[in-house]
Parts: sequence; C-alpha cells; structure tokens
Amino acid sequence: MDRIRIIGGERLKGIIPISGAKNSALPLMIASLLTRQTLTLKNVPRLADVTLLSRILGNHGVDVTVVGKKAGQRTSDGQTFRLTAAEIVDTTAPYEMVARMRASFWVLAPLLVRCGQAKVSLPGGCAIGTRPVDLHLSTLQALGAEIELEGGYVIARAPSGLTGAKITLEKVSVGATHNALMAATLARGESLIENAAREPEVMDLATCLVEMGAKIDGIGSSTLHVQGVDELHGAEHTVLPDRIETGTYAMAAAITGGEVFLEGARGDLLQEALELLRRSGVEIEETATGIKVARNGHGLGPVEVNTAPFPGFPTDLQAQLIALMCMAEGTSTVRETIFENRFMHVQELARLGARIDLKGDTAVVTGVNGLTGAQVMATDLRASVSLIIAGLAAQGETVIGRVYHLDRGFERIEEKLSQCGAQIERLSS
Ligand code: UD1
Repeated sequence: MDRIRIIGGERLKGIIPISGAKNSALPLMIASLLTRQTLTLKNVPRLADVTLLSRILGNHGVDVTVVGKKAGQRTSDGQTFRLTAAEIVDTTAPYEMVARMRASFWVLAPLLVRCGQAKVSLPGGCAIGTRPVDLHLSTLQALGAEIELEGGYVIARAPSGLTGAKITLEKVSVGATHNALMAATLARGESLIENAAREPEVMDLATCLVEMGAKIDGIGSSTLHVQGVDELHGAEHTVLPDRIETGTYAMAAAITGGEVFLEGARGDLLQEALELLRRSGVEIEETATGIKVARNGHGLGPVEVNTAPFPGFPTDLQAQLIALMCMAEGTSTVRETIFENRFMHVQELARLGARIDLKGDTAVVTGVNGLTGAQVMATDLRASVSLIIAGLAAQGETVIGRVYHLDRGFERIEEKLSQCGAQIERLSS
C-alpha cells in the first residue's frame, strides 16, 4: 500500500491549479444514465472515484470515453469525458462496486426512472457515521416507486413510471437532493422539492440537467420546482472547480506561512470558509482567475465554528481546519453538526503533538508552538488530507499510511504541493 512521506517546515510558494470538483463530477456522470444521447463533461478530475464510477456506469451499459490530450493542453487541465447510455443493459448495481463508493448509490433514481426498475446495493464509502439512505428511499416512494430491501439491496420498481409530487426532505441532504432532482426530471407532471440542499454541486447538477432539457426552477435555493419532461437529450457541461480542494490548499498555505495562488478557484463557492480564514489572520484576495492566499510573518488567531449545510462552513473542510488550528495562538472550537463520528483524524493529529479534546460533537483545539513528525494513518478522505496539512508544518518526517483514501478525492496532491516547495513524496510498495 502506498504511503506519503513529508519533511515538514517548508513554506508553500507558487501556483496550485484547482481541479474539477469530485462531488460535482460524480453526480454529473451518473446523470448520463438519464438520456440515450451523449453527455460530454469537461474539467473532470483524475481521481480513483471517477475511475471506479466509470466502471460502475460501464456495467450498466454506459459507453465512457476519455477524450485524448489536445495540443496546448496541460496536465493540470481536467479531462473531457463522453458518456453515452444508448441502452441500459443491466439495472443492478452490485455490492462489490457500490460498497466502495457511497455516491454510486445515486444510480438508483436514474435507473428507476429510465427503466422502471433498479436493484442497487446499500452503499459504503467513507466511515464517517451511519450515513443512512432513508431520505433517498422516501423521496422515490413519494414519486410513486415501490421499494423493498432484500439481502443488502434496495429493489425499486415503477413499471408505469414516476409521478411528480411534493417532496419535503426532513434533513438537508446533498445525495437525496441529487436523487430527487434526477427522478423528478423524468417523472410525469410537477414536483416540488422542499428543504433541498443548496451546495454548489447540487446547482451544478441542476444546471446540467437543464442543459439536457430538464425544466427546473429555483436553482440555488432550497425550493426546487421541477416540471417533468418525456425525455432528456445530450449536452456539454463543464464541472465546477473543487471548493474543498481550494479550501484545503488555502489552509496548507496558511499553516506553512506561505503564499500561493489557487488557479481557477472560485471564492463564491466557499465564502464562509474564506471569511473564517480571514478572521484567523490569513490574507485572501479573490481575483477573476483564482484566489491568492498568504500568511506572511504573523500568527494565526483561533476560531469558533459549526459545520453546516451550504452556505455554512463545510463538513468536508472540518478536519483540515482542525489541523490548521493546532498551530493557532489560542483555543478554537469546531463543532461537527452533519456527521457523527467524523473526528477520526483527531487521534492521528495527537501523534504529531496536537492538543485536541473531544467533547461530544465538538473538538476543542488548543494551539501548540510546534508539531513533530510521526507515523500516522489515514482513516477517510478528508481526514487523510488533514494529516498532510499538519505534516507540512511539523518538524521532521511524517509518514502517512493508507493513502488510497486520498487518491479518491485529491488529484496529484504530492505533485501540486511539491511544485510549491513542499518536501513530499509517495512511497510505493
Ligand atoms: C455529500 C458529499 C460529502 C459531504 C456531504 C455533506 C458527495 C459525493 N459527497 O455526501 O463529501 O460530506 O454531502 O456535505 O457529494 N442523511 C440521512 N438520510 C439519508 C441521507 C443522508 O439521515 O437518506 C444524513 C447523513 O447521515 C448526514 C446528513 O444527512 O448526517 C447529510 O448527508 P448528505 O448531505 O446526504 O451526504 P452525502 O450526499 O452522502
């Protein structure tokens, strides 16, 4: 299993290109199941989750082609995918595949609405709490699907199609909103989705669906009106820049006291996180082509924050923020309100000398003068990158095991960081 080795203490300085958002690319790829025609996606990141989802979609009959490199294209430019689901040959998503990536469960709605049936394994993904799928199922039931659970599989049937309905999500859920949107676009009549997630990746999916011929009003708000259509058609869509990757590298620059330009990043996708960094003393300048992040000379102040659905502070940046606050002057409190059990990075950060007390859903982080390199273990996608952030600031050598978690969501991370002066390398085994 690969490991990552970091010798900490170097200030990051340079340009980091921001990739397309993983959490947009995955539902957008899944949306290709909704039409016989080709959906072309640009700016798709090179990630293990994208490769795995390509295989899963291939199993359903989707032809996935990655367009070759064109003259003048850089490695940092995203890939272009063409996805064509001319015929769905298999409506079962097997355990072996879905258990490895939670988002692949989202094939349920498009398979059901296009083929009248679907059998999808209950999901896996990052071990960050129980992560139920009740909202996904009640959404489809509201649209008229019959749902059974059997042998670890969800079996959904709607032989005469789905019918538009009012769906009120009890809890804000990104995945359930994706599912509801995809199902409602091809349901008969009008649907109203209340308490919808407003995450930029939901907007990205909704925008792409509209480009494919869907009728959706209220994009960007928590109430979505969908007027069902008979069929969708092909389209070309560019994946949003990754706001979580943006926030992660901003914090990496901040912890090293460095100065980086996050090329292609969009500040409007993570205002709350950027404001928090500014309050902590990080200089942030948003430009038309990216975001400049610097911390020149002065210390970091502590913060108090709760994770929350968009536009609040994202749970996917919680681990990275805790790593950063380990080096702040004072005590920070970080409350996780979205997922229980999303503090597995805390014990690993403690191995580097961090002082963090867990009190229920809140981490109380007392800044220390310095961290010291150690051997640590990645436990989930965002936790693993928090260890990289801490390792960049720690004295001496940090070796991070189980980096396959990282490869699921961060494109060429060691390359992007070493180009800015970090001493970081992958140890292959
Ligand atoms: C997505 C993101 C993930 C991010 C999360 C929250 C992708 C691929 N993943 O995950 O990176 O951390 O949004 O921003 O886009 N819940 C239920 N019942 C359900 C569904 C969810 O109770 O049927 C709960 C979850 O346990 C959690 C909360 O709702 O407490 C939010 O989860 P949700 O927004 O659905 O997360 P995902 O879509 O899985």
